[in-house]
This record gives sequence, structure tokens and C-alpha cells, in this order.
Amino acid sequence: MIRKHVNNITPGMALGKTIYGDNYAILLKKGIAITQDHILSLKRRGIVCVYVEEEDTADIETPEIVSEKVHTMMTKRVIITYKKISDSFKDLSMKGSTCESIINSINSEKFKKTFHQNIELKQLNNDISFFIDEIMDREVLAGLNTIKTHDNYTYEHSVDSAIVALLFAKRLRLDRNKLKQIAIGKLLHDIGNIFIDMEILNKREKLSEHENEQIKKHSVFGYELLKDLEHVGFVAAHIAYQHHEWQDGSGYPLGLKGSNTFDFYNVNEICYSDEAKIILPAEIAAIADFYDACVANRPFRPPIPHDIVYELIKNGAETHFNKELVRYFLDLLPKYPVGTEIKIKNGAYEGFTGFVFSLNRDSLNRPVIKILYDNNKKKINPVVIDLSSVGRNITIQCIF
Ligand SMILES: [Fe+2]
Ligand SMILES: [Fe+2]
Repeated sequence: MIRKHVNNITPGMALGKTIYGDNYAILLKKGIAITQDHILSLKRRGIVCVYVEEEDTADIETPEIVSEKVHTMMTKRVIITYKKISDSFKDLSMKGSTCESIINSINSEKFKKTFHQNIELKQLNNDISFFIDEIMDREVLAGLNTIKTHDNYTYEHSVDSAIVALLFAKRLRLDRNKLKQIAIGKLLHDIGNIFIDMEILNKREKLSEHENEQIKKHSVFGYELLKDLEHVGFVAAHIAYQHHEWQDGSGYPLGLKGSNTFDFYNVNEICYSDEAKIILPAEIAAIADFYDACVANRPFRPPIPHDIVYELIKNGAETHFNKELVRYFLDLLPKYPVGTEIKIKNGAYEGFTGFVFSLNRDSLNRPVIKILYDNNKKKINPVVIDLSSVGRNITIQCIF
């Protein structure tokens, strides 16, 4: 199974991953033979890449971090929780209300009464254990295969960025209790968006200064919503509050600074150390949030190629992201994930294209590749090259 640009899909290829539409109903089911109509419908929905199975790439196995079953279960839970919370605030949005009146409503007795001991959050909290169990034996951040549609972006982004944050937090040896708090925080980190005008959230054009300011309010609303809710807690509420804060103080909403340090041996103690600084789980969440948002398809831009996202995170160390955490994160993140379409940049195969076939755990950024097309896009006899040994002088780039 490989990831392909919709322009390169031809009728007859089998769909590798189920795609979900509005209300998380199945839009196209894994395994179906793709038709011309499907391709047109994917394009109409703004979907840029999908996973497909074809003969030459049938031997490429893209790993799953969590099973489809648990992924779907968590996404549905997040949808239900979002809907339940937004129902409590029907008719209340930035379109017709001020920031202060929204915060007042969130903190009103009426809301607290209807939502305080809510069954949805309790259920979400219970299901998180399955989620964490599946992530516990994963070592590498490869195989985030969700193809996010605009309809489901917020929910799929919440689940996928939770997966990224959990795998990362596990690598940092945070204890299970912290993992749970990070999971709930990440699943609900953008809940404040329920008050933001959908037209702004889905806008294709560049946002005005005023619209940007409105979007930035989502972290404050999210914090106000979560801070007193049962089954949520301090860490999760602060993930909603601080996931857009940057190390150099240029983030929002408070412009808090980070420490740019990380103590591996004191990791479970340092969450609450300094009120003027970003808490560690929010620093973890910030990296996971940025990563997942970059690789996703958005109304205003296509997905950013994976190797470029890798460099953006690397370059954001110290100013945007905790530089010590970035070091650990990049250790988990293959620059060229399995199943990604790549182009050869130099040597005898310059301009040829193919796919990442498998990873070398000891040399994560030098994978094994399979070349399938020449520089005139003509099919060739497949050539498999290990970039960590015989192909060590070859450079590649992700196509999508
Ligand atoms: Fe956000
Ligand atoms: Fe986010």
C-alpha cells in the first residue's frame, strides 16, 4: 500500500484506507476498486492524496500506530463529545457574541449543571486506556495513515495529534497517568473552536488580522471550558490553553516562554514547576499539533511533504519548540515514511521516482527505496536500493 496523489490514481486501483465523510459516515471503503467517479468525487472534496494498493507496491507494508478499530472508536467518541458540548452552547459563537460573553456563558451555573458530570467525557476517559495500550509497543512514528477530509478535520486532527503526542510522551518515559492526561488534553485541545465562525475556520483565502485574532481565542475558550470539568484536570486544560505558545514568547494567548530544557530523569515532576512557563505536556502537544496540522490536507493548502515538515520542526527548535524535545522527537520521526512517493535527486537514477519500501531503525532517515519509474515517467523493472548501505550517496525528496 502506498500514498498517491489523486492526479496519479487510475481507475481500477484498490483503495488502501477507508475515507470518512460528513458525520463520519463511510465515504469510500477500504478495498473497493476506484472508479473515475470516485476520483472526481475525491477531487471535489479537496482530497489530495489517498492510500492505494497496486501490483508493484503490494509488498510495501505501511504500519498502523493504532488499529483502524480503535482509531474509529476514538474519532467517534471525540465527535460525540464535541457535539454534546457545542449543543450546550447553541446559538453562541464569535459571530454574534463577544469574547467576554462567551467566557461568562462557559462559567455559568447553567452550563456547569448540564455538563459537569457528563457521560460522554467519562466514556472518552474510559476508552483512552485502549488507545494507550495500542501505542505502548510502538517505537517509530510511522503510519499515521488517516486521510483527513475537511468535514472531519477537527476530529481526525484531534485523534491523530493525540497519537503523536502519546507516542512521543511514551518515548520521554512519562508515566501512564501523565499519558492519560495528555491523551484527554490532546483529544479536546481545539474544543474552543466550537465558538469560532466555521466560515473563518474553513476559509481558503488568507485570513484578515481580525479573523486571525478570532481564531486565536480558541485556546482561551478551550481552557475555560475544560478547567472545571470532571475527568479532564489541570494538564489537559492547560494543553488546550498553551498548545500555541512558543519557546521565545511569540505564541498565544499569553506569550509564555519555554525553558528549552528537558530533564529525562525528573520527567514526571516538572509539569507544574513555574507558572510563567509553558508546561511540559503543552510543549509535547505543541510539537504533535504542528506536525499533524502540517501533514494534513487543509482548505487553504495541500498537505506539506513529509521531509519538509521534518525540516520545519528541526528549524523551529529553540524559537518555537523546546529544542531538547525536538531532538527526541526527530529520533522517532522518519523523514521519509514507508509508502511515501519519492524522487531521486542525484546520480545514475536522477529524476527517477518510486516509494519508500522499508525503514532502517538504526538509520531512520536512510530507508530502503523501490524505484518504479524513469525520468520520463515510464515504468521500469523495479530497483530496490538500501540508502543506508549501497545507496548511501543517493539523495531523495518526498513528492507529496
Ligand atoms: Fe489549536
Ligand atoms: Fe490543533
